[in-house]
Amino acid sequence: MNIPAIPAERLPELLRAMPKAELHIHIEGSLEPELIFALAERNGVALPYASVEELRRAYAFTNLQSFLDIYYAGASVLLKEQDFHDMAWAYLQRAAQDGVVRAEIFFDPQTHTARGVPMATVIAGLHRACQAARAQLGVDAELILCFLRHLSEEEAFETLEQALPWRDKFIGVGLDSSELGHPPEKFARVFARCRELGLHCVAHAGEEGPPAYVWSALDVLKVERIDHGVQSAKDPALMARLAQDRIPLTVCPLSNQKLCVFSDLRQHNLRQLLDAGLMATVNSDDPAYFGGYLGENFSQTFAALGLDCGHAYRLARNSLEASFASPEAKRAWIERLDAVFERFAAGG
Ligand code: ADE
Ligand code: ZN
Repeated sequence: MNIPAIPAERLPELLRAMPKAELHIHIEGSLEPELIFALAERNGVALPYASVEELRRAYAFTNLQSFLDIYYAGASVLLKEQDFHDMAWAYLQRAAQDGVVRAEIFFDPQTHTARGVPMATVIAGLHRACQAARAQLGVDAELILCFLRHLSEEEAFETLEQALPWRDKFIGVGLDSSELGHPPEKFARVFARCRELGLHCVAHAGEEGPPAYVWSALDVLKVERIDHGVQSAKDPALMARLAQDRIPLTVCPLSNQKLCVFSDLRQHNLRQLLDAGLMATVNSDDPAYFGGYLGENFSQTFAALGLDCGHAYRLARNSLEASFASPEAKRAWIERLDAVFERFAAGG
C-alpha cells in the first residue's frame, strides 16, 4: 500500500498498535530476575546472587560471551514442566501487549537436558503456553529448537533424536550461543538432516562473527533467515545477495547495544540495511537481559535513528512476510496492518 501521512507525534502509539511478528526471541532470555528468584525458591536451587537487585547489577555485558555465562546460569532454575510454561506464558502476555500476532520462539534444549531435565518436560511446558496464547491472547506462537554451537555436531544430532518424538510441536531449528570460532559449516550434516525432515532452518550469523559466517549459513546450512546478520554491511557482495534473494534478517537493536556490537543505538545500522533494500525485522533477542521487549526495541530504535511511519510499515510487514506462518494467515495480518495505518491516517 501507499503509506498514508500520519502525524509524527502519533508514531509511538502506531508502533505499539501495528500487528507484527517477533521472529528472534530466546525464551530463556525472557526470564526476568524476579521469576529467576521465584523459581529458585520453588525448586530449592541455590543462586550465586543474594537478591534480584544484585543479579540485575551483574547485567553489564562487554560482549556475547559475557552475557551467555549469566544467561545459562539464570536458566539453571528451570526444572519442571510448570517452570517452562510459566516462563513462556509471561513472555507471551508481554508480546500481546506489544501488538505481536505471531511469535516464533527459540528454545535451547541442551541447556536443560545437560542438567538432567527431560526433553519432554521442556517441550511440553513451552507448548502448553503456546496453546494458551493462541486461545486466550490471540497470539499465534510456535517453537524453534536451537542447537548450541559451542557444543559438537554429534551432540546436536543427539538432541535432534531426543526431540523427534515431539516433531509436531516445533516448526524449525536454529543455531545459537558463542559465534566466534564456531562457524555454521560445523553443523552442515545436522542441518541437512533437518531439511530432509521438513524443518525450517535459521541460524545466528554475523552478530559478532564475520560476513563469511553469513555466506556459509546461506550456502552450506541453506537457512531461510539470518538471525542478526548486522555484520553483513561490511561486505557489499553479501548485501547484494541478501537483497536479491529477499533473505530476512532478524535484527535485535537493544541486544546489539547491550553486547557492544554497536557503541550506541544511534550508531546502529538498521536504517542502512533497510535503505539497501534488505528484508530487515526488529526483535528483542533476550528482553529480560537487554532492557526491553519488542515495543521498547521499536520505540528506542525509532527515536535513536529518526525513523518514520514508512519505516514502521516496512518493518511490520517484513516481520509478517518473513514468518513461517501460512500464506492465508500472513494475508489476514497484512490486511489488519493496512487497516491500522488507514485508521491512524484518518485520525482514529
Ligand atoms: N543465545 C541467547 N541469545 C543469544 C545471542 N544474542 N546470540 C547467540 N546466542 C544467544
Ligand atoms: Zn539471538
